[in-house]
Amino acid sequence: MNGCKNHFPFRLQPLPYPLDGLEPYLDRLTVTIHHDRHQRGYQEALNRLLAKSPEKQCLSLEQLICQADQTPEGQELAFQAGGLWCHEFYFDCMTRTGASLTQPSGCLAQRIERDFGGFQRFQKDFTDAAIKLKGSGWVWLVSGPTGALSILQTPLQQTPLVHGLYPILVVDVWEHAYYLKYQNRRDLYLQNWWLLADWEFALQNYQLCVNGTAPR
Ligand SMILES: [Fe+2]
Repeated sequence: MNGCKNHFPFRLQPLPYPLDGLEPYLDRLTVTIHHDRHQRGYQEALNRLLAKSPEKQCLSLEQLICQADQTPEGQELAFQAGGLWCHEFYFDCMTRTGASLTQPSGCLAQRIERDFGGFQRFQKDFTDAAIKLKGSGWVWLVSGPTGALSILQTPLQQTPLVHGLYPILVVDVWEHAYYLKYQNRRDLYLQNWWLLADWEFALQNYQLCVNGTAPR
């Protein structure tokens, strides 16, 4: 099992762009600390836990998240696994400044129109959910099994997978994601985050979902 993709020992997934590739909206220092320290922290903590639980070393990251039991040890494992999974997905949801569409396209655009009444309405609802999220967590665009879209807030390192939902796009609203640059102005972080959102990645996720293959 050692060295298998998506199995113990888990590796730190490289960023899909340079550390300064999200400038000026997310600065190099913020991205460096977020990826190289926070994401790495989850990856290393997860590997340390799994090193003591050989029976779980053959499980994928998704299995570790969804099959976690309610014991303190199980919840710690789910937290670290979720932290790694959420951060991999978050960094994949952004692209170099100016490198992606500025809004959704194809079947995803059509479904956003149907389920939210248009892209601008969706953006407002998603942004409001991110601003209003209490404490640390994530805001997701998710799809149900039939392709219906909704906005989901999750606390700490909880993923939509545990709700049976498929992630399409996510924003990290833990303070470590933006505080160095934006301090308490989460609203400005979100305003600029929209300029980094990778709608081509989101469309791929949605197409996999509606085609019956869960993303990731
Ligand atoms: Fe984070």
